[in-house]
Amino acid sequence: MVWPLSKAKPVNPHLPRPMTFDASGPLSGNARVPGDKSISHRALMLAAMARGRSLIHGLSEGADVAATASALAAMGARIARDADGVRTVDGVGTGCLLQPEAALDMGNSGTSARLLAGLIASHPIQATLTGDASLSRRPMGRVIEPLSRIGAEFVAAPGGRLPLTIRGICPAVPREHRLKIASAQVKSALLLAGLNTPGRTRVIEPVPTRDHSERMLKRFGAAIDVTREGCDTIIDLYGEAELDPQELIVPGDPSAAAFLVTAALIVPGSEVRLQGIGINKLRIGYFDVLKAMGADLEIANEREEAGEPVADLVARHSPLKGVDVPPEAAAGMIDEFPIFFVAAAFADGTSRTSGLGELRIKESDRIAVMAEGLKAIGARVAEQKDGLVLHGSGGEMLAGGATIAARLDHRIAMSFAVAALACRGPITIDDMAPVDTSFPGFAATLAGLAA
Ligand code: S3P
Repeated sequence: MVWPLSKAKPVNPHLPRPMTFDASGPLSGNARVPGDKSISHRALMLAAMARGRSLIHGLSEGADVAATASALAAMGARIARDADGVRTVDGVGTGCLLQPEAALDMGNSGTSARLLAGLIASHPIQATLTGDASLSRRPMGRVIEPLSRIGAEFVAAPGGRLPLTIRGICPAVPREHRLKIASAQVKSALLLAGLNTPGRTRVIEPVPTRDHSERMLKRFGAAIDVTREGCDTIIDLYGEAELDPQELIVPGDPSAAAFLVTAALIVPGSEVRLQGIGINKLRIGYFDVLKAMGADLEIANEREEAGEPVADLVARHSPLKGVDVPPEAAAGMIDEFPIFFVAAAFADGTSRTSGLGELRIKESDRIAVMAEGLKAIGARVAEQKDGLVLHGSGGEMLAGGATIAARLDHRIAMSFAVAALACRGPITIDDMAPVDTSFPGFAATLAGLAA
Protein backbone atom coordinates (compact mmCIF):
# COMPACT_ATOMS: atom_id res chain seq x y z
CA MET A 1 0.00 0.00 0.00
CA VAL A 2 1.26 3.49 -0.81
CA TRP A 3 0.34 6.38 1.45
CA PRO A 4 2.04 9.69 2.03
CA LEU A 5 4.84 9.90 4.56
CA SER A 6 4.88 12.94 6.80
CA LYS A 7 7.94 15.01 6.10
CA ALA A 8 10.80 13.78 8.27
CA LYS A 9 12.70 16.53 10.09
CA PRO A 10 16.44 16.47 9.36
CA VAL A 11 18.38 15.13 12.34
CA ASN A 12 20.62 17.86 13.75
CA PRO A 13 24.09 16.56 14.47
CA HIS A 14 25.10 18.09 17.82
CA LEU A 15 28.44 19.70 18.59
CA PRO A 16 30.62 17.09 20.35
CA ARG A 17 31.48 17.94 23.96
CA PRO A 18 34.86 16.33 24.81
CA MET A 19 35.81 16.04 28.49
CA THR A 20 38.84 14.65 30.34
CA PHE A 21 38.61 12.68 33.60
CA ASP A 22 41.55 12.04 35.99
CA ALA A 23 42.39 9.82 38.92
CA SER A 24 40.43 10.81 42.00
CA GLY A 25 40.90 10.88 45.75
CA PRO A 26 38.17 9.24 47.86
CA LEU A 27 34.57 9.97 46.86
CA SER A 28 32.29 10.87 49.74
CA GLY A 29 28.92 12.34 50.57
CA ASN A 30 25.37 12.21 49.30
CA ALA A 31 24.37 12.49 45.67
CA ARG A 32 21.12 12.67 43.78
CA VAL A 33 20.44 10.70 40.65
CA PRO A 34 17.77 11.49 38.03
CA GLY A 35 14.30 10.00 38.19
CA ASP A 36 14.11 6.52 36.69
CA LYS A 37 14.12 6.84 32.91
CA SER A 38 11.98 3.75 32.22
CA ILE A 39 9.36 4.76 34.79
CA SER A 40 9.38 8.39 33.59
CA HIS A 41 8.50 7.39 30.00
CA ARG A 42 5.63 5.23 31.24
CA ALA A 43 4.34 7.83 33.72
CA LEU A 44 4.13 10.43 30.94
CA MET A 45 2.49 8.05 28.48
CA LEU A 46 -0.18 6.83 30.89
CA ALA A 47 -0.83 10.34 32.21
CA ALA A 48 -1.32 11.39 28.58
CA MET A 49 -3.85 8.58 28.11
CA ALA A 50 -5.76 9.36 31.30
CA ARG A 51 -8.65 11.77 31.11
CA GLY A 52 -7.80 14.69 33.40
CA ARG A 53 -4.78 16.13 35.22
CA SER A 54 -1.89 14.03 36.59
CA LEU A 55 1.04 15.34 38.65
CA ILE A 56 4.45 13.70 38.31
CA HIS A 57 7.26 14.42 40.78
CA GLY A 58 10.88 13.50 40.14
CA LEU A 59 10.54 12.89 36.40
CA SER A 60 13.85 12.30 34.60
CA GLU A 61 15.16 15.57 33.14
CA GLY A 62 17.08 13.67 30.46
CA ALA A 63 16.64 14.22 26.74
CA ASP A 64 15.15 10.74 26.19
CA VAL A 65 12.17 11.47 28.42
CA ALA A 66 11.89 14.96 26.91
CA ALA A 67 11.52 13.29 23.49
CA THR A 68 8.56 11.28 24.83
CA ALA A 69 7.02 14.43 26.33
CA SER A 70 7.36 16.40 23.07
CA ALA A 71 5.81 13.57 21.07
CA LEU A 72 2.86 13.28 23.46
CA ALA A 73 2.37 17.05 23.32
CA ALA A 74 2.36 16.87 19.52
CA MET A 75 -0.47 14.33 19.82
CA GLY A 76 -2.62 16.47 22.09
CA ALA A 77 -1.46 16.04 25.71
CA ARG A 78 -0.72 19.26 27.60
CA ILE A 79 2.48 18.95 29.63
CA ALA A 80 3.91 21.72 31.81
CA ARG A 81 6.89 21.85 34.22
CA ASP A 82 6.89 24.02 37.33
CA ALA A 83 9.98 25.55 38.97
CA ASP A 84 10.49 22.43 41.14
CA GLY A 85 10.39 20.14 38.13
CA VAL A 86 6.90 18.80 38.88
CA ARG A 87 5.07 17.96 35.66
CA THR A 88 1.39 18.63 35.15
CA VAL A 89 -0.05 16.43 32.43
CA ASP A 90 -3.54 17.01 31.03
CA GLY A 91 -4.32 13.72 29.34
CA VAL A 92 -6.47 13.32 26.25
CA GLY A 93 -8.10 10.00 27.23
CA THR A 94 -7.59 6.57 25.69
CA GLY A 95 -8.38 6.56 21.99
CA CYS A 96 -8.09 10.33 21.66
CA LEU A 97 -4.49 10.92 20.56
CA LEU A 98 -4.42 13.49 17.78
CA GLN A 99 -2.68 13.14 14.45
CA PRO A 100 0.72 14.90 14.81
CA GLU A 101 1.39 17.58 12.22
CA ALA A 102 5.09 16.82 11.75
CA ALA A 103 7.45 13.91 12.27
CA LEU A 104 8.13 12.99 15.92
CA ASP A 105 11.84 13.23 16.79
CA MET A 106 12.82 10.40 19.15
CA GLY A 107 16.41 11.65 19.45
CA ASN A 108 18.55 8.85 20.92
CA SER A 109 15.67 7.12 22.71
CA GLY A 110 14.81 3.53 21.77
CA THR A 111 12.27 3.36 24.59
CA SER A 112 10.39 6.43 23.26
CA ALA A 113 10.35 5.01 19.74
CA ARG A 114 9.22 1.49 20.61
CA LEU A 115 6.68 2.37 23.31
CA LEU A 116 5.13 5.22 21.31
CA ALA A 117 4.89 2.93 18.27
CA GLY A 118 2.64 0.75 20.43
CA LEU A 119 0.51 3.64 21.66
CA ILE A 120 0.05 5.02 18.12
CA ALA A 121 -0.65 1.57 16.59
CA SER A 122 -4.17 1.33 18.05
CA HIS A 123 -5.19 4.95 17.35
CA PRO A 124 -6.73 6.14 14.07
CA ILE A 125 -3.74 8.37 13.30
CA GLN A 126 -0.58 8.31 11.24
CA ALA A 127 2.83 9.36 12.57
CA THR A 128 6.44 9.24 11.48
CA LEU A 129 9.21 8.60 14.02
CA THR A 130 12.75 9.87 13.34
CA GLY A 131 15.90 9.61 15.44
CA ASP A 132 19.60 10.39 15.68
CA ALA A 133 22.30 8.34 13.93
CA SER A 134 22.50 5.82 16.78
CA LEU A 135 18.74 5.24 17.03
CA SER A 136 18.43 5.08 13.24
CA ARG A 137 20.69 2.00 13.28
CA ARG A 138 18.57 0.12 15.84
CA PRO A 139 16.04 -2.53 14.82
CA MET A 140 12.33 -1.72 15.03
CA GLY A 141 11.21 -5.03 13.47
CA ARG A 142 10.72 -6.40 16.99
CA VAL A 143 7.72 -4.05 17.46
CA ILE A 144 6.66 -3.77 13.79
CA GLU A 145 6.06 -7.51 13.49
CA PRO A 146 3.70 -8.02 16.48
CA LEU A 147 1.97 -4.62 16.04
CA SER A 148 1.23 -5.54 12.41
CA ARG A 149 -0.73 -8.51 13.78
CA ILE A 150 -3.18 -6.14 15.48
CA GLY A 151 -3.75 -4.43 12.13
CA ALA A 152 -1.40 -1.43 12.22
CA GLU A 153 0.66 -0.68 9.09
CA PHE A 154 4.28 0.37 8.92
CA VAL A 155 6.74 1.80 6.40
CA ALA A 156 10.29 1.56 7.70
CA ALA A 157 13.76 2.36 6.32
CA PRO A 158 15.62 -0.76 5.05
CA GLY A 159 16.26 -3.30 7.80
CA GLY A 160 13.15 -2.22 9.74
CA ARG A 161 14.76 1.01 10.98
CA LEU A 162 13.82 4.67 11.49
CA PRO A 163 12.42 6.78 9.94
CA LEU A 164 9.33 4.72 10.62
CA THR A 165 5.83 5.69 9.56
CA ILE A 166 3.00 4.08 11.50
CA ARG A 167 -0.59 4.03 10.37
CA GLY A 168 -2.62 3.05 13.40
CA ILE A 169 -5.77 0.95 13.27
CA CYS A 170 -8.97 1.49 15.25
CA PRO A 171 -10.45 -0.80 16.35
CA ALA A 172 -7.28 -2.90 16.59
CA VAL A 173 -7.47 -6.69 16.81
CA PRO A 174 -6.94 -8.12 20.31
CA ARG A 175 -4.23 -10.76 20.15
CA GLU A 176 -2.10 -13.10 22.21
CA HIS A 177 1.62 -12.39 21.77
CA ARG A 178 4.45 -14.64 22.93
CA LEU A 179 7.67 -12.61 23.18
CA LYS A 180 10.51 -13.98 21.06
CA ILE A 181 13.13 -11.86 22.78
CA ALA A 182 13.36 -10.80 26.41
CA SER A 183 12.42 -7.15 25.92
CA ALA A 184 10.48 -4.86 28.24
CA GLN A 185 10.19 -2.42 25.36
CA VAL A 186 8.39 -4.92 23.13
CA LYS A 187 6.17 -6.08 26.00
CA SER A 188 5.30 -2.48 26.85
CA ALA A 189 4.59 -1.52 23.23
CA LEU A 190 2.06 -4.36 23.02
CA LEU A 191 0.42 -3.47 26.34
CA LEU A 192 0.19 0.21 25.38
CA ALA A 193 -1.43 -0.80 22.08
CA GLY A 194 -3.80 -2.95 24.13
CA LEU A 195 -5.08 0.09 26.03
CA ASN A 196 -7.17 1.20 23.04
CA THR A 197 -7.88 -2.31 21.70
CA PRO A 198 -11.28 -3.82 22.48
CA GLY A 199 -11.15 -7.02 24.56
CA ARG A 200 -8.15 -8.86 25.96
CA THR A 201 -4.57 -8.32 24.87
CA ARG A 202 -2.38 -11.10 26.22
CA VAL A 203 1.43 -10.94 26.38
CA ILE A 204 3.36 -14.06 27.38
CA GLU A 205 6.89 -13.53 28.64
CA PRO A 206 9.13 -16.60 28.79
CA VAL A 207 11.86 -14.53 30.52
CA PRO A 208 10.78 -11.89 33.05
CA THR A 209 11.79 -8.31 32.22
CA ARG A 210 11.25 -5.03 34.08
CA ASP A 211 7.56 -4.77 35.01
CA HIS A 212 7.21 -0.99 35.30
CA SER A 213 4.46 -0.90 32.65
CA GLU A 214 2.36 -3.50 34.47
CA ARG A 215 2.76 -1.68 37.81
CA MET A 216 2.00 1.71 36.28
CA LEU A 217 -1.03 0.42 34.36
CA LYS A 218 -2.42 -0.97 37.62
CA ARG A 219 -1.74 2.35 39.32
CA PHE A 220 -3.71 4.26 36.64
CA GLY A 221 -6.66 1.88 37.10
CA ALA A 222 -6.35 -0.34 34.01
CA ALA A 223 -7.80 -3.86 34.22
CA ILE A 224 -4.62 -5.94 34.14
CA ASP A 225 -3.91 -9.43 35.49
CA VAL A 226 -0.45 -10.93 35.83
CA THR A 227 -0.18 -14.67 36.44
CA ARG A 228 2.60 -17.28 36.28
CA GLU A 229 2.36 -20.57 34.43
CA GLY A 230 5.56 -22.62 34.75
CA CYS A 231 8.34 -20.31 33.55
CA ASP A 232 5.93 -18.02 31.68
CA THR A 233 4.57 -14.73 32.95
CA ILE A 234 1.13 -14.09 31.44
CA ILE A 235 -0.10 -10.51 31.28
CA ASP A 236 -3.73 -9.86 30.37
CA LEU A 237 -4.82 -6.30 29.70
CA TYR A 238 -8.44 -5.39 29.02
CA GLY A 239 -9.09 -2.43 26.70
CA GLU A 240 -10.63 0.02 25.97
CA ALA A 241 -9.30 1.25 29.26
CA GLU A 242 -10.46 4.36 31.08
CA LEU A 243 -7.42 5.59 33.00
CA ASP A 244 -7.71 7.78 36.10
CA PRO A 245 -5.23 10.63 36.49
CA GLN A 246 -2.66 10.15 39.27
CA GLU A 247 -0.15 12.00 41.41
CA LEU A 248 3.09 10.07 41.62
CA ILE A 249 6.75 10.20 42.56
CA VAL A 250 9.30 8.66 40.21
CA PRO A 251 12.05 6.81 42.13
CA GLY A 252 15.75 7.50 41.51
CA ASP A 253 17.16 5.54 38.57
CA PRO A 254 19.13 2.44 39.66
CA SER A 255 20.82 2.42 36.24
CA ALA A 256 22.16 5.94 36.91
CA ALA A 257 23.03 5.02 40.51
CA ALA A 258 25.10 2.09 39.17
CA PHE A 259 27.78 4.50 37.89
CA LEU A 260 28.19 6.31 41.22
CA VAL A 261 28.10 3.04 43.19
CA THR A 262 30.85 1.59 40.99
CA ALA A 263 32.93 4.75 41.29
CA ALA A 264 32.78 4.43 45.10
CA LEU A 265 33.69 0.73 44.96
CA ILE A 266 36.83 1.19 42.83
CA VAL A 267 38.28 4.37 44.41
CA PRO A 268 40.05 3.62 47.73
CA GLY A 269 38.62 5.32 50.82
CA SER A 270 35.24 6.15 49.23
CA GLU A 271 31.78 6.10 50.82
CA VAL A 272 28.82 7.38 48.80
CA ARG A 273 25.15 7.61 49.83
CA LEU A 274 22.26 7.73 47.37
CA GLN A 275 18.70 8.29 48.52
CA GLY A 276 15.39 7.10 47.10
CA ILE A 277 16.70 4.68 44.47
CA GLY A 278 14.35 2.23 42.77
CA ILE A 279 15.12 -1.37 43.79
CA ASN A 280 12.58 -3.24 41.64
CA LYS A 281 13.99 -6.79 41.68
CA LEU A 282 13.83 -6.97 37.89
CA ARG A 283 16.22 -3.98 37.68
CA ILE A 284 18.90 -4.58 40.31
CA GLY A 285 20.69 -7.65 39.01
CA TYR A 286 23.89 -5.59 38.89
CA PHE A 287 23.74 -4.82 42.61
CA ASP A 288 23.34 -8.55 43.31
CA VAL A 289 26.37 -9.30 41.10
CA LEU A 290 28.41 -6.60 42.87
CA LYS A 291 27.58 -8.19 46.22
CA ALA A 292 28.71 -11.57 44.87
CA MET A 293 31.97 -9.82 43.89
CA GLY A 294 32.42 -8.77 47.53
CA ALA A 295 31.11 -5.19 47.28
CA ASP A 296 30.25 -3.36 50.49
CA LEU A 297 26.88 -2.14 49.22
CA GLU A 298 24.14 -1.48 51.75
CA ILE A 299 20.50 -1.31 50.72
CA ALA A 300 18.71 0.39 53.61
CA ASN A 301 15.38 1.97 54.55
CA GLU A 302 13.34 -0.04 52.05
CA ARG A 303 9.92 1.44 51.29
CA GLU A 304 7.41 1.80 48.46
CA GLU A 305 6.70 4.83 46.30
CA ALA A 306 4.25 4.96 43.39
CA GLY A 307 3.87 1.18 43.43
CA GLU A 308 7.65 0.64 43.13
CA PRO A 309 10.09 -0.49 45.85
CA VAL A 310 12.65 2.19 46.79
CA ALA A 311 15.66 2.29 49.17
CA ASP A 312 18.75 4.26 50.13
CA LEU A 313 22.11 2.90 48.98
CA VAL A 314 25.48 3.19 50.68
CA ALA A 315 28.52 2.04 48.68
CA ARG A 316 32.00 1.81 50.19
CA HIS A 317 35.32 1.06 48.50
CA SER A 318 35.78 -2.72 48.35
CA PRO A 319 38.26 -5.22 46.96
CA LEU A 320 36.23 -6.97 44.24
CA LYS A 321 36.54 -10.58 43.05
CA GLY A 322 35.95 -11.69 39.45
CA VAL A 323 32.60 -13.34 38.77
CA ASP A 324 30.82 -15.31 36.07
CA VAL A 325 27.51 -13.75 35.05
CA PRO A 326 25.20 -16.41 33.58
CA PRO A 327 23.06 -15.54 30.52
CA GLU A 328 19.86 -15.80 32.58
CA ALA A 329 21.02 -12.83 34.68
CA ALA A 330 21.20 -10.58 31.60
CA ALA A 331 17.63 -9.20 31.59
CA GLY A 332 17.92 -7.97 35.18
CA MET A 333 21.04 -5.90 34.47
CA ILE A 334 20.80 -5.32 30.72
CA ASP A 335 21.76 -1.64 30.91
CA GLU A 336 24.51 -2.18 33.48
CA PHE A 337 26.95 -4.32 31.48
CA PRO A 338 29.17 -1.41 30.38
CA ILE A 339 29.76 -0.35 34.00
CA PHE A 340 29.95 -3.99 35.14
CA PHE A 341 32.82 -4.49 32.66
CA VAL A 342 34.60 -1.56 34.33
CA ALA A 343 34.11 -3.08 37.80
CA ALA A 344 35.37 -6.44 36.48
CA ALA A 345 38.44 -4.75 34.96
CA PHE A 346 39.51 -3.73 38.49
CA ALA A 347 38.53 -7.00 40.21
CA ASP A 348 40.83 -9.76 41.35
CA GLY A 349 40.56 -12.69 38.93
CA THR A 350 38.57 -13.45 35.81
CA SER A 351 35.00 -12.42 34.98
CA ARG A 352 33.05 -14.06 32.18
CA THR A 353 29.81 -13.06 30.49
CA SER A 354 27.83 -14.72 27.69
CA GLY A 355 24.39 -14.63 26.08
CA LEU A 356 24.62 -10.86 25.63
CA GLY A 357 23.82 -10.58 21.89
CA GLU A 358 21.29 -7.80 22.69
CA LEU A 359 24.16 -5.57 23.82
CA ARG A 360 25.35 -5.32 20.22
CA ILE A 361 22.17 -3.44 19.27
CA LYS A 362 21.89 -0.97 22.13
CA GLU A 363 22.81 2.72 21.67
CA SER A 364 26.12 1.31 20.37
CA ASP A 365 27.60 -2.18 20.01
CA ARG A 366 28.41 -2.30 23.71
CA ILE A 367 30.43 -5.51 23.50
CA ALA A 368 32.79 -4.22 20.80
CA VAL A 369 32.99 -0.63 22.07
CA MET A 370 33.70 -1.65 25.68
CA ALA A 371 36.29 -4.23 24.59
CA GLU A 372 38.11 -1.68 22.45
CA GLY A 373 38.00 1.04 25.12
CA LEU A 374 39.06 -1.22 27.98
CA LYS A 375 42.02 -2.48 25.95
CA ALA A 376 42.99 1.13 25.21
CA ILE A 377 43.17 1.91 28.96
CA GLY A 378 45.26 -1.18 29.70
CA ALA A 379 42.67 -3.76 30.80
CA ARG A 380 43.02 -7.39 29.77
CA VAL A 381 39.88 -8.31 27.88
CA ALA A 382 38.86 -10.78 25.19
CA GLU A 383 35.84 -10.09 22.99
CA GLN A 384 33.59 -13.04 22.22
CA LYS A 385 30.52 -13.36 20.03
CA ASP A 386 28.07 -12.67 22.83
CA GLY A 387 30.10 -11.43 25.78
CA LEU A 388 33.47 -10.44 27.22
CA VAL A 389 36.07 -12.25 29.29
CA LEU A 390 38.00 -9.91 31.57
CA HIS A 391 41.12 -10.54 33.65
CA GLY A 392 40.97 -7.91 36.38
CA SER A 393 43.82 -5.77 37.73
CA GLY A 394 43.32 -7.06 41.30
CA GLY A 395 42.51 -3.56 42.51
CA GLU A 396 45.62 -1.98 40.92
CA MET A 397 45.16 1.21 38.92
CA LEU A 398 44.92 0.74 35.14
CA ALA A 399 47.11 2.74 32.76
CA GLY A 400 44.42 5.04 31.30
CA GLY A 401 45.94 7.66 29.00
CA ALA A 402 43.52 7.15 26.09
CA THR A 403 40.73 8.86 24.22
CA ILE A 404 37.44 6.96 24.09
CA ALA A 405 34.90 7.33 21.30
CA ALA A 406 31.52 7.31 23.07
CA ARG A 407 29.64 6.64 19.80
CA LEU A 408 26.47 8.50 20.87
CA ASP A 409 26.13 6.10 23.81
CA HIS A 410 25.57 7.72 27.22
CA ARG A 411 26.49 4.57 29.13
CA ILE A 412 29.80 4.13 27.30
CA ALA A 413 30.71 7.74 28.11
CA MET A 414 29.81 7.39 31.81
CA SER A 415 31.53 4.00 32.16
CA PHE A 416 34.90 5.35 31.00
CA ALA A 417 34.51 8.54 33.05
CA VAL A 418 34.18 6.26 36.11
CA ALA A 419 37.09 4.05 35.01
CA ALA A 420 39.32 7.16 34.78
CA LEU A 421 38.96 7.73 38.54
CA ALA A 422 41.13 4.65 39.12
CA CYS A 423 43.59 5.07 36.23
CA ARG A 424 47.14 6.48 36.30
CA GLY A 425 46.69 8.55 33.14
CA PRO A 426 43.71 10.71 32.20
CA ILE A 427 40.90 9.45 29.96
CA THR A 428 39.31 11.80 27.45
CA ILE A 429 35.76 11.03 26.34
CA ASP A 430 35.37 12.44 22.83
CA ASP A 431 31.77 13.47 23.45
CA MET A 432 29.93 13.70 26.77
CA ALA A 433 26.82 15.27 25.21
CA PRO A 434 24.96 11.90 24.95
CA VAL A 435 25.08 11.64 28.76
CA ASP A 436 22.34 14.27 28.82
CA THR A 437 19.93 11.65 27.46
CA SER A 438 19.80 9.96 30.89
CA PHE A 439 21.96 11.78 33.47
CA PRO A 440 22.26 15.53 32.94
CA GLY A 441 24.83 16.86 35.44
CA PHE A 442 26.64 13.52 35.72
CA ALA A 443 30.16 15.01 35.50
CA ALA A 444 29.32 17.69 38.08
CA THR A 445 27.82 15.06 40.41
CA LEU A 446 31.00 12.97 40.17
CA ALA A 447 33.17 16.03 40.75
CA GLY A 448 30.99 16.97 43.76
CA LEU A 449 31.61 13.57 45.36
CA ALA A 450 35.36 13.88 44.76
CA ALA A 451 35.63 17.45 46.12
C1 S3P B 1 13.85 -0.45 28.65
C2 S3P B 1 14.07 -1.75 28.34
C3 S3P B 1 15.39 -2.28 27.97
C4 S3P B 1 16.51 -1.33 28.37
C5 S3P B 1 16.21 0.09 28.00
C6 S3P B 1 14.93 0.55 28.68
C7 S3P B 1 12.48 -0.03 29.00
O1 S3P B 1 15.43 -2.45 26.57
O2 S3P B 1 17.72 -1.72 27.76
O3 S3P B 1 17.26 0.94 28.37
O4 S3P B 1 12.31 1.08 29.55
O5 S3P B 1 11.55 -0.79 28.72
P1 S3P B 1 14.99 -3.84 25.87
O6 S3P B 1 13.53 -3.96 26.02
O7 S3P B 1 15.38 -3.68 24.44
O8 S3P B 1 15.77 -4.90 26.56
